[in-house]
Amino acid sequence: MTILEDQPINPPTTLDLDEINLADPDFWLRPDYHDALAKLRAARPVSWHEHHDSGKGFWAFLDYEDIIAVTRDWEAFSSKHGIRVHHDAGTGQVRPGTNIMIEMDPPEQTANRKHVSTGFTPRQVRKMETYVREQAIRIVSEFERGDEIEFVGDIAARLPMEIICDIMGVDPADRPHLLDLSNRTLGDQDPDYGVDPLEGTKATLELREYGVQLAAERLENPGDDLFSEIARIEVDGKPLPKEQLGGYFALLIAAGNETTRTAITHGMIAFSRFPDQKALFQSDPVGLEQSAAEEIIRWASPLRHMGRVLTHDIEYRGVRMRTGEKAAVWYSASNRDPAVFDDPFRFDITRDPNLHQSFGGGGPHFCLGANLARREVWVLFQELFARFPDAVAVADPVPLRSVQVNGVKSLKVRL
Ligand code: HEM
Repeated sequence: MTILEDQPINPPTTLDLDEINLADPDFWLRPDYHDALAKLRAARPVSWHEHHDSGKGFWAFLDYEDIIAVTRDWEAFSSKHGIRVHHDAGTGQVRPGTNIMIEMDPPEQTANRKHVSTGFTPRQVRKMETYVREQAIRIVSEFERGDEIEFVGDIAARLPMEIICDIMGVDPADRPHLLDLSNRTLGDQDPDYGVDPLEGTKATLELREYGVQLAAERLENPGDDLFSEIARIEVDGKPLPKEQLGGYFALLIAAGNETTRTAITHGMIAFSRFPDQKALFQSDPVGLEQSAAEEIIRWASPLRHMGRVLTHDIEYRGVRMRTGEKAAVWYSASNRDPAVFDDPFRFDITRDPNLHQSFGGGGPHFCLGANLARREVWVLFQELFARFPDAVAVADPVPLRSVQVNGVKSLKVRL
């Protein structure tokens, strides 16, 4: 029996409805948060939540179908006024906007996304298969059978970082620093990364500045990386503004990193909790690659939510919402909805269909890196288990304190 096997998967919540506050980062450290989400979804699929310190808040959408409706209705639920529910004017938590696709609405967003989307088409990502596998093999080959490793830092964080940095043409010597900046950007509610929100903002700006410098270098000395292509883009005969180039860089580094690392780490936890599913995957790692990756990503729900801002007053499910109020769609809730997923607390790598919302609820912002992320996840587990068939978690994971990312700071694994 593995150490995680006998732990309850979905312990009943001890919270009353009115005590459930999705704005509270400590809520997400509770072992019963999934049951609390189910309780809230059943009683109040749309509800208001406030930050303890600032009193600012947001509407929370927990229902699967509502998430699809909100995500597609970008005219009412806009991205251009920000996507972070825990950053509000007057709270010291304001993150400067990125001025690129993730914080734009169509048609600007559509045009902006086109500049980089050619790098992530299914065809383009398929062409990367050998390369992704070589990286995965290189990383797992550094260890020996029986080693006890810190899985997050030693393996899970490295594959996505190496790959996105190669795509963007980042010098290997700079990667540890960029990884640190990316951790700070998304870990700004966790004391280990510097709970001061200014730290997070500073890290975002540094990432962007790095991108601005790199773009200038790539214009002088173009390589065959994606960022050299982006740096050369001209619109109406003019190059893209350098702030925009910095924004692309910071978004792709941050988006491509923490999310995929989180999926891989939760995959390792799930394979340790459900050894039957691990044995099944090992019996047919190629045949099951797609469905296993999809289930790992559903199970992990790496981003808990995405935020939007109301552009006009509306009434939704009888709830009145006003212009300028924030709203967030909660994938952590919808991905465990029993109305959509049979036995949602069962980790089932053959689940079919598996229309999870970890990459978004559809609509214009659907994750650009989904194909790459899926491939990274399955290749990593194929190569890990090929070399270390008995790899297993040997201690409880240490969760990241965050309303935004279902992150894990460390996970001890014996190979
Ligand atoms: C398992 C890993 C990943 C998860 C769970 C994930 C999740 C998401 C989610 C939820 C969104 C927003 C959807 C919305 O607002 O409707 C998003 C957007 C985005 N993701 Fe990912 N992502 C992952 C990996 C990646 C990777 C590897 C990359 C690229 C290198 C990437 C690049 C992006 C970009 C550029 C956007 C913004 C797209 C836009 O605004 O048009 N993601 N992702």
